[in-house]
Amino acid sequence: MTMVSGLMDLGFSTICATPHQKTDQYLPSLETIGSAHRETTAAVAERGMNVTIPLAAENMWDSTLYERMESDEIPGYDGNRVFLLEFIPTQLPVGLFERIFDLRCRGILPVIAHPERYIPLWKAPDLLEKLAGDCAMVVDLGALSGHHGRKQAKQARKMVLGGTAHAAASDLHSPGNLKCARAGIEWIRKKAGSDAVQRLLGTNPAKILDGKHPDG
Ligand SMILES: [Fe+2]
Repeated sequence: MTMVSGLMDLGFSTICATPHQKTDQYLPSLETIGSAHRETTAAVAERGMNVTIPLAAENMWDSTLYERMESDEIPGYDGNRVFLLEFIPTQLPVGLFERIFDLRCRGILPVIAHPERYIPLWKAPDLLEKLAGDCAMVVDLGALSGHHGRKQAKQARKMVLGGTAHAAASDLHSPGNLKCARAGIEWIRKKAGSDAVQRLLGTNPAKILDGKHPDG
């Protein structure tokens, strides 16, 4: 509840819960996640807090996701039409763009979590542009504020100023991350202006949740 009220203090009125889905490491069942989500939304309603908490997942690019792609059962923001995706930072998955093309042909929008972390994109602006053309890109506010490393900060900031970042999100794992999120929002306001704050944290996230690519 501290995290929900902390995010509300930062101005969020919709908070997407995206628990990890990662084979062999963190793969709670969808039933367990569903019941935790029900408990949280009930507690929020009981306290009269004016916030909605849609449930999705942060899907690691692995065998579980592959199976779910095949069976069209990816846990996403909007049924299974929009979903959050991450991969390991050190290399791009083999066949990534072919698989994304296939998903887009099926009317599914991948949303890339913390794109600033992917090392192969740091020196490949063409690949970054291509990925941003196919997917929605959501930078981590904590990276913008410099809490996740110098190179990640540089990349996240370049993406916001250059337009390949469509949205920003808190990646909140504990109440301690709230200050990083606040600092990230302040960075956007200071360097890119209030319009950018509205675009990255209001307008574009709403488009994404509606299944639309922000540039589409
Ligand atoms: Fe992640």
